[in-house]
Amino acid sequence: MRIVSTVCELREYVKTWRSIGKSIAFVPTMGNLHAGHLQLVNTAKKKADRVVVSIFVNPTQFGAGEDYETYPRTEQEDQRKLQAEGADLLFLPSVAEIYAPDARTEVTVTGLSDLYCGASRPGHFSGVAIVVCKLFNMAQPDIALFGLKDFQQLTIIKTMVRDLNIPVEIVGVDTVRELSGLAMSSRNGYLTDAEKQVAPKLYHSLCVARDAILAGNLAYADLEQQASQFLQQAGFQPDYFSVCRSSDLKKAGAEDVELVILAAAKMGKTRLIDNIYFSR
Ligand code: PAJ
Repeated sequence: MRIVSTVCELREYVKTWRSIGKSIAFVPTMGNLHAGHLQLVNTAKKKADRVVVSIFVNPTQFGAGEDYETYPRTEQEDQRKLQAEGADLLFLPSVAEIYAPDARTEVTVTGLSDLYCGASRPGHFSGVAIVVCKLFNMAQPDIALFGLKDFQQLTIIKTMVRDLNIPVEIVGVDTVRELSGLAMSSRNGYLTDAEKQVAPKLYHSLCVARDAILAGNLAYADLEQQASQFLQQAGFQPDYFSVCRSSDLKKAGAEDVELVILAAAKMGKTRLIDNIYFSR
């Protein structure tokens, strides 16, 4: 696995691969890699000839008082895992390589960026959108892979790619979970042992709501309220629990069939998000 830190070097590799007819998959991450990230790399390997992974803890998607400074940075371990997984190129840029000090351009996917996680984290999804847009322009991949775990992020990126005619195919990859059902996340490392015992109840609450809907209960507002209450009693501070239609994340109505239930809740200091998507 080659490791580069400049856009120029990244482009050189991509250009060379293209010149010999190789297709390129791209997996953007913020590092502290776990089995969820590695599943993206593994899927990428099956879909393209060369796999480029980026690790960049993107400052513009963290709000004031969030965990940008303390976000886990585990570079050596990450490199070892990517090497073992068979990634071809790791892009490890500095903040200065990504952002000019006088950058003026913003990317906001209106109507999606301000909902759910965006409502609790103002500016977060504009930070995600600009960095992903820039990384696409830097790596110029044929396909890019994102986790369904961050369903809203995936929807925003798909919409941005469509609206800006970015020539990349976006592939969503299923959520990788612990045996307990807890969705793997770099932030799970913040949980205490006691909190780790309770955290899987977030996924459990999603399964309960899905099963109720599949059994014919379409009283979504009631289901949302029951789930929030359940989470609160379990020791979470629920942020949102919302039955949505999966195409545009609008609140689901009785006519909608393709659904996703989005949830976020704090467990102590840790913000956990998860979702479940299904056809009714
Ligand atoms: P990060 O949280 O590091 O996640 C990188 C990718 O891994 C995202 O596409 C995310 O959805 C996926 N992922 C995380 N946990 C997963 C799991 N348990 N199962 C499957 N996939 C999982 O998401 C980001 O970084 C950033 O916002 C980024 C897109 C890199 C832009 O900075």
